[in-house]
Amino acid sequence: MATSGKGKVAIIGSGLIGQSWAMIFVSAGYKVQLYDNQPEKVIGAVKSLDEQLNNLESKGILRGQLSAQQQSNLISGATSLSDCLQNAFWVQECVFEDVDLKRDIFTQLDNLVSDEAILASSTSFIPPSKFMENLKHRGNALVNHPVNPPYFAPLTELVPSPWTKPEIVSRAKKILFDVGSRPIVVKKEVPGFIINRIQDAIFAEAYNLIDDDVIDVDDLDAVMSEGLGMRYAFMGPWETAHLNANGMVEYFEKYAQGIHDVQSSFKPIQKMEGPTAKKIIDAMLTKVPMNQLAARRKWRDEMMIKLSQIKKGKQ
Ligand SMILES: NC(=O)c1ccc[n+]([C@@H]2O[C@H](COP(=O)([O-])OP(=O)(O)OC[C@H]3O[C@@H](n4cnc5c(N)ncnc54)[C@H](O)[C@@H]3O)[C@@H](O)[C@H]2O)c1
Repeated sequence: MATSGKGKVAIIGSGLIGQSWAMIFVSAGYKVQLYDNQPEKVIGAVKSLDEQLNNLESKGILRGQLSAQQQSNLISGATSLSDCLQNAFWVQECVFEDVDLKRDIFTQLDNLVSDEAILASSTSFIPPSKFMENLKHRGNALVNHPVNPPYFAPLTELVPSPWTKPEIVSRAKKILFDVGSRPIVVKKEVPGFIINRIQDAIFAEAYNLIDDDVIDVDDLDAVMSEGLGMRYAFMGPWETAHLNANGMVEYFEKYAQGIHDVQSSFKPIQKMEGPTAKKIIDAMLTKVPMNQLAARRKWRDEMMIKLSQIKKGKQ
């Protein structure tokens, strides 16, 4: 493995998200070592990462200042968890979404890491207090949950547990900015963190509108893809509002009552099952049949690459 002025990151779990974090960290010159309890997966991941980095370089969309070869040289596989964790200043856990497995992995990490290392979990849903409470190093542990695909969607949410030291959150934030991510800090544990809470709020209303036969499924999706999402790719709801009126003060003065009236008409949440769920399933299967899912995902990733280029002012 090439030497680097920057420290070493240990990645536990070499699947989709583990590989994404590997590419993000090497793009900023950090060394990365991957560990998986299925050794052949590590070998496959190291090879795949080399191909992915070269592919990104050939398309002109490789992140960072180093060449694909230089970035690839920073990546290696480990055959044991202890080798992987040796000298790591950041540990990114990327194993399956299972609370018992995460608790077990973090207990193992706890006994092997230095007192300074940051212990981060990629969990999408599991509150950190559910698997970090009994760690010796619980002050150094937090959730670092990215948006898929992480290489092209910079946002990642940092969720401290009740025991995470504030200086660890600040350090993690600084490092993530350094690797080109956009960390947000969730100040206290809430179910679903922020990304999924906002997504679930959208699902709740989108579902009820279809359930009430106010709109068809395709048209509902177009509200985002052809309407609100066009702005949201560049600015959030508050800045959108600020620009939509003559500033935020005027926006609230003009619209707060109307918005409250609309919000007051929202119906209670429902479990997404039964005839309305079936209607949504049928519409999606018509639009993207199961045998076209992979191709559509590829198209989505290509569109996200183009969008990220536009956002960086490269097109
Ligand atoms: N896929 C997404 O869209 C996405 C987005 C954000 C966060 N996440 C979260 O990231 C985490 C990883 O997700 P993924 O999609 O990369 O999963 P994945 O199935 O692609 O990879 C998980 C990897 O963990 C390895 N593993 C399992 N048990 C292990 C152990 N005991 N020790 C070492 N390695 C072990 C598996 O062999 C596998 O390679 C999950 O917590 C998930 O919720 C996923």
